[in-house]
Amino acid sequence: MSERQIQLEVLRYNPETDSEPRFQSYTVPCKNEWVVLDALNYVKENLDTTLSYRWSCHMAVCGSCGMMINGEPKLSCKAFIREYADNIRVEPLANFPIERDLVTVVEDFIAKLTRVKPYLIPKEDKPISAGEFKQTPAELMKYKQYTLCINCMLCYAACPQYALVPEFIGPAAIALAHRYNQDSRDGGRDQRQEVIATDEGVWECSFVGACSEVCPKHVDPAGALQQVKVASTIDWYKEHLMPWVKK
Ligand code: SF4
Ligand code: FES
Repeated sequence: MSERQIQLEVLRYNPETDSEPRFQSYTVPCKNEWVVLDALNYVKENLDTTLSYRWSCHMAVCGSCGMMINGEPKLSCKAFIREYADNIRVEPLANFPIERDLVTVVEDFIAKLTRVKPYLIPKEDKPISAGEFKQTPAELMKYKQYTLCINCMLCYAACPQYALVPEFIGPAAIALAHRYNQDSRDGGRDQRQEVIATDEGVWECSFVGACSEVCPKHVDPAGALQQVKVASTIDWYKEHLMPWVKK
């Protein structure tokens, strides 16, 4: 098993004792198959037990290990060390306050997710005895891609608009709203549109597309936002110019 030494530069910040964040460097012997998360775990287990970061699954599923690696938002469990030079710089996700070291404060994201009602609001009540709400494969394909989101927030760390306007509801939350709006079983579109077809919603997006570039699950939130813009524009025309046409 080949080993290689890297210098892992990690942003450290303890709000109880530090006036500002600082970098700390660790020498880490790495195996060829290691990802950056393995190097952090090595530091935690062997060099510095005080280092704080989030992770759980180690397989790009839980969405908790997002961080900036050499300035780019990445899942640390998917960032292979063999693809980097011997100096790797690791920082907490951009655009979020630091709670401690690589751990960020995620309340703003959770609040935005909650606002878009990311769950099925059935069109009609049906007793369980009436059976499933069935869907065709074509109906499923309309939204399936947006179900792949793991809430890793890399898209928010990449979004220049979120950096400028923290009120922006942002890529993942709007893509998730779109996922339910596109679901043939759902009847909650009007409630979600009140939140996402607004200046803080899709109209804040300037279509830079960075969110889709960094998304580790190929959700394409930028594409979802543009679809919501088109659908919202059609709503506006129907409401103002053709009020007799149903949405
Ligand atoms: S849309 Fe992609 S980058 Fe954004 S939270 Fe979901 S999985 Fe992560
Ligand atoms: S540890 Fe779960 S996504 Fe990386």
